[in-house]
Amino acid sequence: MYLKRIIYTLTFSLLLFSCSSNNNDALNPDPDPDPDPNTKITYEGNVKNIINSNCVQCHASTPVNGAPFSLTTFTEVKNRVDGILSRINNASSPMPPSGLMPSNNRTLIQQWKDDGLLEN
Ligand code: HEC
Repeated sequence: MYLKRIIYTLTFSLLLFSCSSNNNDALNPDPDPDPDPNTKITYEGNVKNIINSNCVQCHASTPVNGAPFSLTTFTEVKNRVDGILSRINNASSPMPPSGLMPSNNRTLIQQWKDDGLLEN
């Protein structure tokens, strides 16, 4: 009888252990949750409009107002994405200089990078 009870207890704790150790999801949350993982952010679909409305008045194909470079093509924006991300999120030295853009614009550009800097 005593042995039976030990075996029962052991089996039960093994079962409990294997269930809890398989359920790791809550311990390892997605480091970069994408609200819609099926829709990738693209330059043509999302980023170009943001840049055209907020940056190209200075970062024109011939830059004006002291802007150091153009941001009018996919390649130019793609090659400068890290500098762009750091300045559009820099509250003390923002781009555009008039102030930080709404956070959804900034998140979209970050998401574009995370999705692999797609053109279309
Ligand atoms: C009103 C004109 C103006 C607008 C609008 C503007 N910029 Fe600028 N930008 C400048 C000037 C002038 C500089 C150089 C001085 C500085 O770095 O602050 C600059 C510098 C930068 C730099 C840093 C260059 C370097 O290598 O240090 C980045 C990146 C940049 N802009 C990105 C952007 C982006 C992205 C936008 C739109 C979201 C934008 N800018 C909108 C005028 C502008």
